[in-house]
Amino acid sequence: MSIDRSNLDRLMDRAARVAARGHGLVEPGCMVGAVVATADGTVLAEDRYRRYGGPHAERTALEKAGDAARGGTLLVTLEPCDHHGKTPPCTEAVIASGVSTVVHACHDPNELAAGGTEALRRAGITVIHHPTPLTELLNAPHVHRTRTGLPWMIAKWAQTLDGRIATGSGHSKWISSTRSRRLVHRERGRVDAILTGVGTVLADDPLLTPRDLRRARRRPERVVVDDQLDTPLDAGLVTTAGDIPTTILCRMEASTSARAGEFLAAGVRVVGIDEASGLRGTLRAEAAGRRWSTMMVEGGGGLLGRLFRDGLVNRALVFSAPVLVGDESAPGPVRGLAPDSIESSIQLERLWSIERDPDRIELFRVAGGE
Ligand SMILES: NC(=O)c1ccc[n+]([C@@H]2O[C@H](COP(=O)([O-])OP(=O)(O)OC[C@H]3O[C@@H](n4cnc5c(N)ncnc54)[C@H](OP(=O)(O)O)[C@@H]3O)[C@@H](O)[C@H]2O)c1
Repeated sequence: MSIDRSNLDRLMDRAARVAARGHGLVEPGCMVGAVVATADGTVLAEDRYRRYGGPHAERTALEKAGDAARGGTLLVTLEPCDHHGKTPPCTEAVIASGVSTVVHACHDPNELAAGGTEALRRAGITVIHHPTPLTELLNAPHVHRTRTGLPWMIAKWAQTLDGRIATGSGHSKWISSTRSRRLVHRERGRVDAILTGVGTVLADDPLLTPRDLRRARRRPERVVVDDQLDTPLDAGLVTTAGDIPTTILCRMEASTSARAGEFLAAGVRVVGIDEASGLRGTLRAEAAGRRWSTMMVEGGGGLLGRLFRDGLVNRALVFSAPVLVGDESAPGPVRGLAPDSIESSIQLERLWSIERDPDRIELFRVAGGE
């Protein structure tokens, strides 16, 4: 194999970028991209996993390359599967293609699908594990879901330059620009559920639907964390619950109250937060039952503080607008953590930052959140 290390990086990152186009279409599966190259690194074909249950990326990329793949290299962002799932084992297609080398970026975290490396090696194919920083980011949601059973959680908020998410009177529409909010709607249309808190429902009466899109990839459910069922029955989330599935997570004793019955009659699911396992255990169970693989949090500081404290947030998507509120009673994005040192505060790592005039949009990895 004569593809050198820098070319391996380049080709694997190309596969990762192809894979990322499947965001919102392939979950709860993994975004996967594949590139087929000649022994000297010339690209013959590429493809991605396009929809959950559809053909796998390496299979369709190899089909596109045809006989030219013989003796070449397959680069794929996830180890080829070796089991009969929704599709036959990819290892069979890889062996039949005649490639001499397979480079993959991630061992399949799903034990059922694992074993591809060994099957390919038994067939005489050279298998190389070659992750890059980009493939680590690409695969993080799938690895997290498979290992923890928890949904991948992105906390999104808009803040002023002085770090406030609303004025002192609770007014927050709109801190970020129309262009920024368009991006939020696009992201809403790619997740399975949007999580908010009762404080936000009371302050803003949001609908949390993807709007002004040509086509939303997903229709997210809405989830409200509301311990005492204080959500008004005439809130937009309640009155539209017949059309868009809506769940309220509340204290266990509230979930069997007469008030809960009123929400049920309005078409809202009411789920008690399990006292022993807390929000983490309840979200894990709900994610399994409702197939929530990715969630976006659009709550205030109370909910975000609770989620950060419980280690449930994987990414923070922050919109900073050139506005100053200048009021110490105005809320910040996260509250209730009270660390006693900077060292013990929540640590974030900036993954990327873009200017979308006049706002700055940043994506952070939350330490401990993959
Ligand atoms: N800029 C943004 O991106 C953005 C996004 C969402 C929300 N917001 C703003 O955030 C603010 C809401 O934040 P939040 O922390 O209060 O709410 P939240 O995080 O949405 O909801 C959870 C909090 O609601 C509070 N809560 C519970 N029952 C309540 C009741 N009956 N009445 C009033 N509050 C109750 C609780 O506060 P305690 O812990 O104090 O009991 C709880 O921590 C609003 O001003 C909203 O506009 C801004």
